[in-house]
Amino acid sequence: AAPLKIAIAGLGTVGVGTVQLLQEHARVVAARCGRPIEITAVSARDRLRNRGCDVSMATWYDDPVAMAREADADVIVELIGGSDGVARETVQAALEAGRGVVTANKALLAMHGTALARAAEATGVHLAYEAAVAGGIPIIKALREGLAGNRARRVYGILNGTCNYILTTMEETGRDFEDVLEEAQHLGYAEADPTFDVDGIDAAHKLALLTSVAFGRPVDFASVSMEGIRHVTAMDIVHADELGYRIKLLGVAEETEHGILQRVHPCMVPKNGPIASVDGVFNAVVVEGDHVGRAKLEGRGAGAGPTASAVVADIMDMAAGRGAPTFGVPVDRLTESAAASINTH
Ligand code: NDP
Ligand code: HSE
Repeated sequence: AAPLKIAIAGLGTVGVGTVQLLQEHARVVAARCGRPIEITAVSARDRLRNRGCDVSMATWYDDPVAMAREADADVIVELIGGSDGVARETVQAALEAGRGVVTANKALLAMHGTALARAAEATGVHLAYEAAVAGGIPIIKALREGLAGNRARRVYGILNGTCNYILTTMEETGRDFEDVLEEAQHLGYAEADPTFDVDGIDAAHKLALLTSVAFGRPVDFASVSMEGIRHVTAMDIVHADELGYRIKLLGVAEETEHGILQRVHPCMVPKNGPIASVDGVFNAVVVEGDHVGRAKLEGRGAGAGPTASAVVADIMDMAAGRGAPTFGVPVDRLTESAAASINTH
């Protein structure tokens, strides 16, 4: 079968991880999705930097937006980051040109997800973003597929690997916040601007996407209340421990009589509960559905390999012709399905 041609915008932590995974597993990937994946174009800022991966077979573009418009590619993989500017322009240009998009960019989708989903629907292509929420955990697929028959009551979990790494390492070693944050940055876990991690903004971006898929609502980042982990001290962690709790940064979306409430903040979680033992860069997402009861998914939430794992799964879906509307149903039906669920339950 003809290869699926992809162009990759961004060759940082996730971009390089994606190239490496596709090259290392080229044969098994092709066998599983029925056709090979060919990287035909790449773009980043610095053409000369040695990135530790071979992209010599691909056409280099200094401008990812031009690449999204002109490259010989079926799918554009956006791994630059940022809610506006070049990442947004790249995704828009790709969708307008009728090319499918795979992205790990939760900031972009939290701010502009509905408009971008509409643009994808207008040209009949898919916009996939498994890697944008909880790194290597396939939670978007789980919500859309395996849990699709449920009415969600509550979705919550640890959605930021950097914060969980900081809280866990502070607890285990007594090291201070800034020092551990720097280590998380070196490991490739943190956002380009790590205030997004430590102030809860990144977790809030992810929560807004989870809420949309789980509850059938348009993405509503503006209504997420958020507080980060900057003010959590080593002493808070010790006191929590004495009381039988651990401190975790949680994102919680739940159905209430006032609608769906979304919040991100540090929580004391009981040591014997489903979340307390999730350490380091691991994330966990708990879904409470009316028929399934409680389901929990856990795995690495950041870093090159885990994130590339999710990016490649989306690319393989596109190669195999599998795809769904961005938020599970066409955007115009998001509000409709929310209204229907209120009327019928
Ligand atoms: P990096 O900062 O490591 O990489 C960003 C890449 O984008 C770099 O290769 C950079 O080029 C390129 N870039 C930046 N600006 C431009 C531009 N104007 N034109 C062309 N290329 C540009 O980021 P990450 O790989 O960590 O993250 C990428 C995306 O994935 C973000 O949306 C992030 O939120 C998301 N994500 C990251 C995870 C992680 O663990 N790191 C996990 C899940 C999602 P150059 O290298 O030349 O500077
Ligand atoms: N900075 C993010 C985190 C990357 O630490 O969870 C994964 O989305």
